[in-house]
Amino acid sequence: MILLIVLVYTSFALAAQISTFSQCDCGYSDPATLATWSEMWHMNFEKNDGSTAAMQQQQLYSYKELFFSSYIIEAKFNDSYPRVFRKENVRIHDESLEVRVTVDPTKSKPVERIQCGGVGTNRLNFMYGSFRSYMRATKVNGTVAGMFLYNTQGEIDIELLSAVQPSQAYFAMHPGLIENGKASSLTHGNVQLGFDPADDFHEYRFDWFPNLTVFYVDGMESYRMTTNVLNLPSRVMFNHWTDGNANFSQGPAKEDASINIKNMTFFFNSSDINSVPTCLNSRAACDIQKITRALQNGSEQASTSSTGNNNGSDEDALFNPFERTKASLTSGTTMIGQQDLLYSYCIYTLLFASIWLVFTPYTLIFT
Ligand SMILES: *[C@@H]1O[C@H](CO)[C@@H](O)[C@H](O)[C@H]1NC(C)=O
Ligand SMILES: *[C@@H]1O[C@H](CO)[C@@H](O)[C@H](O)[C@H]1NC(C)=O
Ligand SMILES: *[C@@H]1O[C@H](CO)[C@@H](O)[C@H](O)[C@H]1NC(C)=O
Ligand SMILES: *[C@@H]1O[C@H](CO)[C@@H](O)[C@H](O)[C@H]1NC(C)=O
Ligand SMILES: *[C@@H]1O[C@H](CO)[C@@H](O)[C@H](O)[C@H]1NC(C)=O
Ligand SMILES: *[C@@H]1O[C@H](CO)[C@@H](O)[C@H](O)[C@H]1NC(C)=O
Ligand SMILES: *[C@@H]1O[C@H](CO)[C@@H](O)[C@H](O)[C@H]1NC(C)=O
Ligand SMILES: *[C@@H]1O[C@H](CO)[C@@H](O)[C@H](O)[C@H]1NC(C)=O
Repeated sequence: MILLIVLVYTSFALAAQISTFSQCDCGYSDPATLATWSEMWHMNFEKNDGSTAAMQQQQLYSYKELFFSSYIIEAKFNDSYPRVFRKENVRIHDESLEVRVTVDPTKSKPVERIQCGGVGTNRLNFMYGSFRSYMRATKVNGTVAGMFLYNTQGEIDIELLSAVQPSQAYFAMHPGLIENGKASSLTHGNVQLGFDPADDFHEYRFDWFPNLTVFYVDGMESYRMTTNVLNLPSRVMFNHWTDGNANFSQGPAKEDASINIKNMTFFFNSSDINSVPTCLNSRAACDIQKITRALQNGSEQASTSSTGNNNGSDEDALFNPFERTKASLTSGTTMIGQQDLLYSYCIYTLLFASIWLVFTPYTLIFT
């Protein structure tokens, strides 16, 4: 019984973590770009045990920080299919956040036959930042995997098209410009990846500044744009779709296809005026490269190095996500899933209750 409860707790706790470094209340700076950002968002889907997928699914949907696409984009131009986004097409699977295109060949109506997935932040106030994610694309022909910033006026996009060989990444700014009937290179670029993005996880990233966006693949700059750059608060989104447009996605996909997101890390500013760094815990901004290395090192190892000393050195930031979850409760800038804490309290209460139930009979016998 106790074992079961501990197992349940562990699987909840590991389903996904949104973390922040509450120590870094003086912002985050990237020595490579010299940019400074006031906030951080990190979600890691790595440590999941597939055997408890059903529970994790519910846990995933309960994250108030996440938005699950649930709408239809009607077919346009020569698209043969509408894009039907459903929440169920986003799940925790294969130690990652999986965004699926699903094909049900028994259905003939396009709306029922092919469905797509999308997930993003409920926060709509990202306003400049560095947005990074480790993703693996699909080999199934005819889908588009997107990581993008969205507001009602425009987008910044990274897209991977499974129909295109050799593999390329597409970078786009919306609204885009047309030059001689084609997408202008000022707002659209495609670069050869030099690897198959469906084989493994790679880091896709864009850094969004006023009037400048720089796109990166595996930490190397691939493209930059200075035209039509978004300048309104936005949300971060990931999606995976197919629509049969012969000129772009091709397809439609003939079988189920998945993209997998291992983790996402955003360093950003918010349009919300209250998010200016307070610099109470630390004197200087934390080093983004050190934080990234600490996260990569695995959260477990980092846990014992936490000392609670608020000296202000970068090393203070090397907390594990669970430590940070607790620490952040009291720090006004938290963006942690409150649900997590609720779950832990409930589970711990249950745990103590069951210990009590198991041991009480013995104490009765021996007294
Ligand atoms: C983001 O916020 C930091 C800290 O407030 C500030 O120094 C920086 O200039 C801001 N960056 C942009 C692009 O607005
Ligand atoms: C639609 O497809 C037809 C034939 O395949 C083509 O001639 C036409 O230009 C396409 N129209 C658009 C808007 O893509
Ligand atoms: C995907 O299908 C299209 C149309 O059948 C074909 O032209 C293209 O080469 C295929 N791409 C891959 C990667 O197989
Ligand atoms: C961006 O560029 C436009 C036009 O070049 C300029 O008017 C605007 O002030 C710039 N915005 C920022 C934030 O630098
Ligand atoms: C699609 O491609 C065809 C042939 O290249 C072209 O005639 C048509 O205008 C394109 N449609 C769109 C919407 O770009
Ligand atoms: C990574 O973990 C190892 C083993 O715990 C530790 O010795 C090392 O200092 C860590 N490195 C970083 C950059 O955190
Ligand atoms: C994200 O996942 C990739 C692939 O598993 C891993 O190499 C990387 O260290 C992770 N990064 C962070 C910041 O957690
Ligand atoms: C704070 O850290 C600095 C190095 O970053 C060190 O020189 C100093 O002694 C530390 N102070 C305390 C009180 O730990």
